[in-house]
Amino acid sequence: MCGGAGFIGSTFVRLRLRGSDDEVVVLDKLTYAGRRENLHDVADDPRFSFVHGAIEDADAVAAAIDGADAVVNFAAETHVDRSIAEPDAFVVTNGQGTYTLLEAARERGLRYLQVSTDEVYGSIEEGSFTERSPLAPSSPYSATKTGADLLVSSYFHTYGLETLICRGSNNYGPYQYPEKLIPLMVLNALHGDPLPVYGDGMNVRNWLYVEDFGRGIAHVLEHGAAGEVYNVGGPGECPNIEVVRRILELTGRDESLIEYVVDRPGHDRRYSLGSEKVRALGWEAEVHFAAGLERTVAWYRDNPWWWEPIRSGAFREYYERQYGRALGD
Ligand code: NAD
Ligand code: TYD
Repeated sequence: MCGGAGFIGSTFVRLRLRGSDDEVVVLDKLTYAGRRENLHDVADDPRFSFVHGAIEDADAVAAAIDGADAVVNFAAETHVDRSIAEPDAFVVTNGQGTYTLLEAARERGLRYLQVSTDEVYGSIEEGSFTERSPLAPSSPYSATKTGADLLVSSYFHTYGLETLICRGSNNYGPYQYPEKLIPLMVLNALHGDPLPVYGDGMNVRNWLYVEDFGRGIAHVLEHGAAGEVYNVGGPGECPNIEVVRRILELTGRDESLIEYVVDRPGHDRRYSLGSEKVRALGWEAEVHFAAGLERTVAWYRDNPWWWEPIRSGAFREYYERQYGRALGD
């Protein structure tokens, strides 16, 4: 499991160790987003091991992949705003890294699942994307994820590698790095900091609770047909301002904390995923947005040990660069 120390990857590792007899090897570079803390509760499990290294490093990949039956790749640079400011790492990890993993899987004939995103389809005003919709990414993040998806498919068509692609919609839940909308707003609200809403706040995202995505990935890994793409979308679509209002309510704060800020360049207006294909395979989202958000807010409120080192560390510099103001203490 590459990138297993990140938000979705660590959730998947946890689900897999609890729900199967699998042995799990995580390969992770531990960038700012990858943290050993995310795996604190599985670190002593005898079926778990960790290799520190990059997916674009063929030697590190060889060290981790020995004896594996399948590769699941979560590893990526994932934040759109960072991809706008500094795209280089996105090209290396999402492009070169995926290529390096595919080569290693091809050499050994392993099943390979690429974790991808609805952002490869671009923005949609009405209706929902299907797996057959054209790919039209708009940020360096989504463009490099799209390139990776195309490369993965080429390894199925050209070399007969058993590939699968899962395209998830926006995830939320515990252990998400607070640069992303929901954890950022939750922590700012808990601290009484302003909540920076981009543009008019009417951009719509299709929210998926992280454990539902994890179960979807596991389901596709076991039951998906080689060479296929599966959309895994959440049950809730919601404009950003509505998400922020719900967070204010759950944290007992008022709307005076909302601050409209300059919009993100090239900001996609709406994402919406049709998930009929993965439903036909037997997966269904279980967590509704209202319940998942309540659970998420409670987790951040109850686990300052997890976010305190982030909010007092290098994240402060990122925040100042991104929002032009200091983060409160
Ligand atoms: P994340 O940023 O929380 O974690 C990424 C992980 O990858 C970290 O552990 C990081 O250390 C690791 N990593 C980064 N570069 C690496 C490299 N070169 N070599 C090895 N490890 C490296 O991301 P996430 O939100 O957990 O996303 C996981 C995957 O799911 C990504 O591929 C992302 O594109 C996809 N995805 C995310 C969402 C979402 O809403 N977060 C939605 C759909 C799909
Ligand atoms: P984000 O969590 O970065 O995910 P993505 O851009 O990959 O969908 O952002 C979700 C939405 O929230 C997106 O429309 C941008 C918006 N947003 C804000 O309004 N303010 C913020 O500070 C952030 C980080 C995001």
